[in-house]
Amino acid sequence: MSRDSIGFTFLVSAALCVVCSVLVSGAAVGLRGLQEENKENERKKNILSAAGLIEPGASAADIKKIYDERVKGIIVDLNTGQVVTDDKELFPNPQEYDQKSAADNPKMSMVIPPAEDFAGIKRRETYSWVYLISNEEGKLSQYVLPIRGKGLWSTLWGFLALDTNLNTIAGLTFYEHGETPGLGGEVDNPKWKALWKGKEAFGKDFDPEIEVIKGNVVPGSKNAIHEVDGLSGATITSRGVTHLLDFWLGNLGFRPYLEQLREKGEK
Ligand SMILES: Cc1cc2nc3c(=O)[nH]c(=O)nc-3n(C[C@H](O)[C@H](O)[C@H](O)COP(=O)(O)O)c2cc1C
Repeated sequence: MSRDSIGFTFLVSAALCVVCSVLVSGAAVGLRGLQEENKENERKKNILSAAGLIEPGASAADIKKIYDERVKGIIVDLNTGQVVTDDKELFPNPQEYDQKSAADNPKMSMVIPPAEDFAGIKRRETYSWVYLISNEEGKLSQYVLPIRGKGLWSTLWGFLALDTNLNTIAGLTFYEHGETPGLGGEVDNPKWKALWKGKEAFGKDFDPEIEVIKGNVVPGSKNAIHEVDGLSGATITSRGVTHLLDFWLGNLGFRPYLEQLREKGEK
């Protein structure tokens, strides 16, 4: 075949396509393990960050070590508040439970009645991870709850850490969102996140009272313990944070689980 023929051109192009596709798919398969590891590391980092156990820039080795020592994941049935991690029929391999995909799976989630969908997420999974945090003496010190809800442009994904009194906020973090940098995107500003520590999530009858207000909290004012400064120029994202917390701390969120813990604590 002549090198200048159309056939030769096609042959070379086809061979090039085959070589490139083998290289690309080889890289994708070869790097899958590393990608999974990075994803897992990211998840651990975000949980530890909500619990205030790591500083930004912690190494992967530190994250793994602190996580292994201080964090235990359990799975909770959000409808009943029961811990179901050891239910072998439901979860033969609990560590493989993927809450994010469950939220999109009609068999593992429910449609949220619009009047109760404060978080704007439409569906809620039946089972949620809860992360139990121990202090340095090995004693339970915090509960970290996965939370999510709509801001202005996007769904904000985060974790809320509660003290063992089940009311005082130990930390809040958002690790994924598409809000505008400098406006709604300030939800992941460490200075703003620091304002949450020590605030109280609930009012009387354990109704969620925590609120991101417009403007700044007036120290000593009646509701200051339940209030956090608004993000300036980002009232809609700020409201979104209030509403998603209303949802996740309420009846369709973690309330049944928290009630069980409160009852156990009283016994
Ligand atoms: C380009 C652009 C990006 C914006 N991004 C956000 C945002 O991420 N979150 C938000 O709440 N408001 C955002 N806003 C502002 C909203 O449109 C709205 O004006 C604002 O939430 C009102 O807040 P304020 O009363 O604090 O000014 C953005 C506006 C513009 C023009």
